[in-house]
Amino acid sequence: MAPPETQPDAPSEDVQSKPISSILIFIAMHTEALPLVNRFQLTEAVDSSYPKGVPWVRYHGVYKNLHLNIVQPGKDPVLGVDSVGTISASLVTYASVLALQPDLIINAGTAGGFKAKGAAIGDVFLASEVAFHDRRIPIPVFDLYGVGLRPACSTCNISQELNLKIGRLSTGDSLDMSPHDEASIIANEATIKDMEGAAVAYVADLLKVPVIFIKAVTDIVDGDKPTAEEFLQNLTAVTAALDETVAKAIDFIAGKCISEL
Ligand code: ADE
Repeated sequence: MAPPETQPDAPSEDVQSKPISSILIFIAMHTEALPLVNRFQLTEAVDSSYPKGVPWVRYHGVYKNLHLNIVQPGKDPVLGVDSVGTISASLVTYASVLALQPDLIINAGTAGGFKAKGAAIGDVFLASEVAFHDRRIPIPVFDLYGVGLRPACSTCNISQELNLKIGRLSTGDSLDMSPHDEASIIANEATIKDMEGAAVAYVADLLKVPVIFIKAVTDIVDGDKPTAEEFLQNLTAVTAALDETVAKAIDFIAGKCISEL
């Protein structure tokens, strides 16, 4: 009998040293994605890569020899709002990786920031690690599974070149923060908080694709303004900062391999 196929735990040497030719960019909200779609003149795919009828959206094109695919979970079919959160993030990322076989995943988006940890509105962060803050399972080992701490792909050179802040990202399915979430976020030592990152990291880890997280701060979680109000007020301006940074990151990545990031 043939031995079972095994998956390597980390990207192989070959993956690390081969020039990056295809990037999958997962962005949860259309407002966050649109400036990049326009900047890179990407076109919407009429797709057979996804199951029939799903709202998922893919824009694609080529820039500096890089195949760029921006994917979004699209609008909730009933409510018509962007399908934010971990469930759709993981499904779209999974289907897109299978269909497109990218060399690198970038999860770009907005996040809440903690001023006590040095975050300010408009800052753009690269996440060093990501974890969940709303999967509390107080049983030995299941507790660690729930937290799901995963490292991002090493990005020392990008952060230096683009002068970006670095911090841990904590993910949950709520925009607000309950006292339970707050305790977990503190335990995760997070500087920023979003609704997709750790789910994208889970899929990237499962399918062994390197992943980086570029997150721009729209609201201060430990400030005195209501989160939803501050988020909506800053969304457009902060999205412009996100667009600039992701574009610079893609310029930096072009012609390089994973080990050079
Ligand atoms: N995205 C932007 N701000 C956020 C916050 N405070 N929590 C979760 N996701 C966010």
